[in-house]
Amino acid sequence: HNHIDQATPEKVQAAIAAGDTHAHVPDYEAFEAYRAAGGYDRFLALREGGDWEAVQETVLSSGLRGLGGAGFPSGKKWGFVRSNAGPRYLAVNGDEGEPGTFKDRFYLERQPHVFLEGMLIAAWAVEADAAFIYMRDEYPAVLDILRREIAALEAAGIVQPGYIDLRRGAGAYICGEESAMIESIEGKRGLPRHRPPYVAQVGLFGRPTLVHNVETLYWVARVCREGPEILNGIEKNGRRGLRSYSVSGRVRKPGVHLLPAGSTIRDVIEAAGGMLDGHVFKAYQPGGPSSGLLPASMDDIPLDFDTLQPHGSFIGSAAVVVLSDQDSARDAALNMLKFFEDESCGQCTPCRAGCEKAVKLMQADSWDQPLLEDLCTVMADASICGLGQAAPNPIRLVMKHFSDEIGG
Ligand code: NAI
Ligand code: SF4
Repeated sequence: HNHIDQATPEKVQAAIAAGDTHAHVPDYEAFEAYRAAGGYDRFLALREGGDWEAVQETVLSSGLRGLGGAGFPSGKKWGFVRSNAGPRYLAVNGDEGEPGTFKDRFYLERQPHVFLEGMLIAAWAVEADAAFIYMRDEYPAVLDILRREIAALEAAGIVQPGYIDLRRGAGAYICGEESAMIESIEGKRGLPRHRPPYVAQVGLFGRPTLVHNVETLYWVARVCREGPEILNGIEKNGRRGLRSYSVSGRVRKPGVHLLPAGSTIRDVIEAAGGMLDGHVFKAYQPGGPSSGLLPASMDDIPLDFDTLQPHGSFIGSAAVVVLSDQDSARDAALNMLKFFEDESCGQCTPCRAGCEKAVKLMQADSWDQPLLEDLCTVMADASICGLGQAAPNPIRLVMKHFSDEIGG
């Protein structure tokens, strides 16, 4: 839905009829244009004799945090990885599986080289022996662009052939969990590992590995080229920085909307053109199904890292879904749990059996709330990874804010 401004269905159909199989890909900035505008100057200068700690300081002072959803301070990770002896690797998480999230694709389909330069700067900062990109296979246009543009980088002598290793995911949500992604790159089934050790210590092929999300690296490049002020100079409602909200649901202009990190749901809906005609704002998913659902009455919370936790939610990947009076919060939560049931890797019982039981309990006319709450506690406390730990959020938030829909 994020390309409706660029490509109408009619335009896409006409282009496909004319033999263009990538008609849905908007024009992107290719290597020659990026380089001509000074792209890679910063990376090449750093590689010639830059001070990685100075770059780390710039990234830290920008306030950049991991935009896959966890918000871990990006520069800090570089220090963790560097403190372990080499060889080290960089692994880019481009799996973008959180339902409603499409910001990584948005940037890759427009400015792939901003991301690639950020990736090379981060790889240089931790002295990575190779950079792996784990890319969602459901993004064929992105894969096509990356193949072409990585080849252009190699042809220009900016990277050694083979230094960037582009890998395709195979559609499993769990392979976006960083340790499952690493297992998958190693050629194994994508099962999350126990932590600690963190991947910064024991990652890809047992080596210290820097894992970053695509958009995080996009901002690494921009901060290095344009200065930390492009993020830390923006303030709203006491929060600093910018967020790329992937907005969908009952709004007029779904798509990626880049707004100050202190924006509320009202600001996001306004940026997305307001509610669709005939729809009244009722509820919202702030950051993917694992963040659950909040009622429209909670419309003054800045949608940023740390601000939603006191409300039993989190911003995550900033995948905002707007629901209206024509939607059922109960049905939305059930849909989320069915998704988790399907995508659970099955490795641990609280999540495997818990998601299945939750779906059954949520299908009853009237929810058995004490039993569901017991189940939620076990899942949140005893699951190995974030999938099982966060799956209770939609259940708990619907019981808290939409009790009129669940009987009992
Ligand atoms: P986390 O907070 O456990 O870890 C975040 C990052 O910091 C990881 O790279 C981890 O290795 C590192 N880290 C944390 N503590 C560390 C330490 N003491 N030493 C070294 N490294 C450390 O969060 P997690 O489970 O990696 O991610 C959860 C988030 O992922 C959720 O907020 C969710 O929104 C998001 N998510 C995003 C998806 C997407 O498609 N973008 C899909 C599913 C979930
Ligand atoms: Fe697998 Fe779920 Fe356990 Fe995560 S919590 S390891 S997805 S079974």
